[in-house]
Amino acid sequence: MLQIEKLCIKVGKTTILEDFNFNFEKGKVYAIMGPNGSGKSTLAFTIAGHPTYKVEEGLLKFEGKNIVDLSADKRAKLGVFLSFQTPLSLSGVTVFQLLRIALDKKKDPLALKKKIEEIAKKLGIKKELTERSLNEGASGGEKKKLEMLQAAILDPKLLIFDEIDTGVDVDALKKIAKFMNDNKEGKTYLIITHYNRILHYIKPDKVLVLMGGKLVKTGDAKLAEEIEKNGYEKIL
Ligand SMILES: Nc1ncnc2c1ncn2[C@@H]1O[C@H](COP(=O)(O)OP(=O)(O)O)[C@@H](O)[C@H]1O
Ligand SMILES: [Mg+2]
Repeated sequence: MLQIEKLCIKVGKTTILEDFNFNFEKGKVYAIMGPNGSGKSTLAFTIAGHPTYKVEEGLLKFEGKNIVDLSADKRAKLGVFLSFQTPLSLSGVTVFQLLRIALDKKKDPLALKKKIEEIAKKLGIKKELTERSLNEGASGGEKKKLEMLQAAILDPKLLIFDEIDTGVDVDALKKIAKFMNDNKEGKTYLIITHYNRILHYIKPDKVLVLMGGKLVKTGDAKLAEEIEKNGYEKIL
């Protein structure tokens, strides 16, 4: 569903991602692992269409269509969702208001409210948190759960979660992972992480390892366990 060919990303004169090739298939869960600064977030931003990350070379094909020249907004409409490593706060905007706009006001407001309440309950998000400005005063774990909630309502085809496990306690992590497991049908997940923690609760079909801006290794869930045990250097 997402084909990446010979992708090369530069910021200014620095190459951040080099000759990345991979074919992500529909209905699968991928873990993208790598030490700090290996290019994981850059890959996520590039797929989502962040304007800072210029595609110097290569193809990004989403369901057969080259999306390299499409804006982030257009990619989102096609079904690409990115949850940021550090979710932003939006003063004066509730999650309901944000989603209402994101859905082009096509969904009935009462039905949307009900859906938000239902998913918030499943994720263990306090009602009060969905009623105040998005992410304002929210803890790390609460912010990540709110990201999951937005993903669930927008119902994208490709879900990219950048370090959804960072700053999240074990109970919140289990809730997020359970939600992912319960909503896997027909979706493709890219779970970006630098450790194996979340992968104890959601099993990846494939693990990709990035180092120094290059895809250096792919494997199954065992590869993530190996990394947990021995570190990144040892797997090369
Ligand atoms: N906007 C940017 N400008 C300059 N350098 C950047 C920018 N974004 C990322 N980089 C650099 O690219 C490398 C990879 O960063 P990043 O993709 O954030 O890594 P990761 O998410 O794996 O920790 C780092 O060396 C980082 O400093
Ligand atoms: Mg990152």
